[in-house]
Amino acid sequence: MTDTQRRSSCMSVPQRSVWLLGQRPVTAQRRGKYVHGSAAHPQRMWPDLAAAAIIRYSQPGDLVLDPLAGVGTTLIEAVAAGRDTIGVEYEPDWVRLAQANLHRANRAGGTGQGTVLAGDATHLPDVLPSALRGRVALVVTSPPHGRPLQGRVANRSRRVDLAAGMTAVLTGCLPLLRPDATVVVTLRCHPNHPAVEAPDAIPAAGAGAGLTLIEHTIGVLADAHDGRFVPTSPASPSATAALRWDGFPSHTSAYEDIYVFRHQPSADLVAPDQHGVRP
Ligand SMILES: C[S@@+](CC[C@H](N)C(=O)[O-])C[C@H]1O[C@@H](n2cnc3c(N)ncnc32)[C@H](O)[C@@H]1O
Repeated sequence: MTDTQRRSSCMSVPQRSVWLLGQRPVTAQRRGKYVHGSAAHPQRMWPDLAAAAIIRYSQPGDLVLDPLAGVGTTLIEAVAAGRDTIGVEYEPDWVRLAQANLHRANRAGGTGQGTVLAGDATHLPDVLPSALRGRVALVVTSPPHGRPLQGRVANRSRRVDLAAGMTAVLTGCLPLLRPDATVVVTLRCHPNHPAVEAPDAIPAAGAGAGLTLIEHTIGVLADAHDGRFVPTSPASPSATAALRWDGFPSHTSAYEDIYVFRHQPSADLVAPDQHGVRP
């Protein structure tokens, strides 16, 4: 397969869907899960988003990775759902808080085991032990945007390009993935996000890493009742936006793009069996 063929197969039309993630306020989703200081992180994922991806795309006992772990939302939800987990985070303050949040998740009854390593996710093979090769069932992650103390991927002040940074992160994930692994990258609609200027950055990063985009989901950060979407969180920029089902009007900001990729090693990379047949 040529590079062009590989790229176009990775960019084939994905399934579209919608997840409702705001049936309860984000304050309720977060209550009791984070140690003091975690709220200083400006871009925490919504816990119900991480949990939805983990439950949908992994099984108890699987290993879940977040290479851009922040204060550990993916890790907390993985442990709570009985998955083992590992995170990588560049900023030492967030590493310390993520580790403390993981301990809290275990004290609260989470049965998974987890840890967080400090390091640069654009060089994952240098950060993660080689014993993890081929063991990760699921990656759930989200790239940073725009603030200091936000690592090295797509941080405006450090002038790293989002697509290039995420291509490096996802490429570093590949050797760790099981053959059937799923990679979920979420992107908040935010006025300062580099993705606003480069809306195809994440699909391009996935394709650049050789992953196949199988699903592009809109995660609606609002409740749905009486035929309308109703913002449920004062923390959401949607608080003032009227959400309508019809066509997601462009002023609607209470959503997250959720890109789901599958790790599908191409047939020419899979060894034939004893009869020369490829699975
Ligand atoms: C959107 S935040 C993730 C938040 C996380 N999901 C949570 O809920 O806490 C992205 C994180 O990536 C980290 N980061 C940025 N560049 C990095 C790099 N090169 N290596 C590791 N972490 C990095 C930032 O410091 C930031 O904490």
